[in-house]
Amino acid sequence: MPLPFLASLYFDGLPPWFPDPLVALKYTTALGSLALTKWYTSGRPNPSERKLHGRVVIMTGGTSGIGAKTAFQLASRGAQLCLLTRQPPNDPFLVDYIDDLRTRTNNQMIYAEQVDLASLHSIRQFATKWIDNAPPRRLDMVVLCAATLTTPGHKRSETEEGIETEWMVNYLANVHLLGILSPAIKAQPFDRDVRIIIPTCSSYIGAPKLEPGDVTDKTRFWSPKLAYARSKLALMVFAKTYQKHLDAYKRPDQLPMNARVVIVDPGFARTVGMRRWLTRGSLLGLFLYVVFYFVAWLLLKSPNMAAQSILFAAMDGGLLRGPGGKFIKECMEVDFARRDIEDEEVAKKLWEESDKLIEKTEKASALRRAREKKEKEEREKVEEIESLVETIKKGKAKQGEEKKKKKKKTTTTTTTTTD
Ligand SMILES: NC(=O)c1ccc[n+]([C@@H]2O[C@H](COP(=O)([O-])OP(=O)(O)OC[C@H]3O[C@@H](n4cnc5c(N)ncnc54)[C@H](OP(=O)(O)O)[C@@H]3O)[C@@H](O)[C@H]2O)c1
Repeated sequence: MPLPFLASLYFDGLPPWFPDPLVALKYTTALGSLALTKWYTSGRPNPSERKLHGRVVIMTGGTSGIGAKTAFQLASRGAQLCLLTRQPPNDPFLVDYIDDLRTRTNNQMIYAEQVDLASLHSIRQFATKWIDNAPPRRLDMVVLCAATLTTPGHKRSETEEGIETEWMVNYLANVHLLGILSPAIKAQPFDRDVRIIIPTCSSYIGAPKLEPGDVTDKTRFWSPKLAYARSKLALMVFAKTYQKHLDAYKRPDQLPMNARVVIVDPGFARTVGMRRWLTRGSLLGLFLYVVFYFVAWLLLKSPNMAAQSILFAAMDGGLLRGPGGKFIKECMEVDFARRDIEDEEVAKKLWEESDKLIEKTEKASALRRAREKKEKEEREKVEEIESLVETIKKGKAKQGEEKKKKKKKTTTTTTTTTD
């Protein structure tokens, strides 16, 4: 059969049903280019594998996008997950989410703690509870996936404590959390592989120079894009400094620090955050996103592929060798694209300013809470007295009525007797 076909090809040329070779070449090239583009934009899969049974992981942002995929992969390998979520643990959606995660990963050691990263007080409440444990609780990994962004075209917003939202959630929340957890991280035995994984975004390259005072200065130019980029740049500078802070600690056993900070750029992915950014939070934007979904599919990673570099940071054995503070992109170590990330002066100023801002804000919010508590107590006291007075008044009125009734009765009886 193939021989006659090949002979007819040789002598008579291509059969009539065969497409024009030029057209075939055109289609093959187009499909090949699409496949190559998709392969390239999907990024590298994580080449490092490791069992994580018994390892305790604190994670933020583990309920959505890249964080959710990371949480799934870590839990599948047996890690014990403590997810810090905005919602309380009894929120029905969160209960469902955790139940589902437990079933799919066959791992019951997953639970949630309510921590609103937009509130320094909420972070302090969780972190102090964690470090107050005696003996110190096991802690192998902290994965800080939570982030927020103001959609383009929207106004600058502030948290209840008065800090610009992106600066608070993307940067200051992590500084505060790691600051309080620091003793727990330092107290881990030397043979434990402790990692602090900090996802960032390549938008840091275009961030303005770090002038922390700018953040509190409402008169300075602000845009959602710059605020996001600046918060990520600051986070990277902090990550490097935090590693130095850990390294400077003199362990009681005189051994070197075993905790490593790893900064990760997961790459652009089709997550809720990215969709909000692309659609500008509008219905028209959402419509265009759906219509042009193919472009997003082609150029952006899936959340699972974006999680690969974070998983590499969590599992690669090579990261234990040498100093911490490495930068991972596409599952390999790369250099920072900006020099100021390693600038000691910038880092020192940022650290000091962040400390001051946290202290000032916490004091103000503690005073506010105390005032509110006092006002509430006073309001309750007044309400109690008012209700007491009301009851006495009612009682007196009732007594008066009863007296009147009695008097009337007596008068009626006397009149009847006289008659
Ligand atoms: N997606 C990308 O293209 C991309 C690119 C580069 C870097 N990254 C980085 O990768 C990480 C994950 O990004 P993503 O796109 O997967 O994020 P995402 O889908 O937008 O999810 C953000 C997560 O942060 C949590 N979060 C936000 N505000 C919070 C708050 N006040 N308190 C507690 N949790 C809060 C959210 O909780 P709720 O579910 O309650 O909202 C959610 O779980 C981020 O650090 C991001 O900067 C992403």
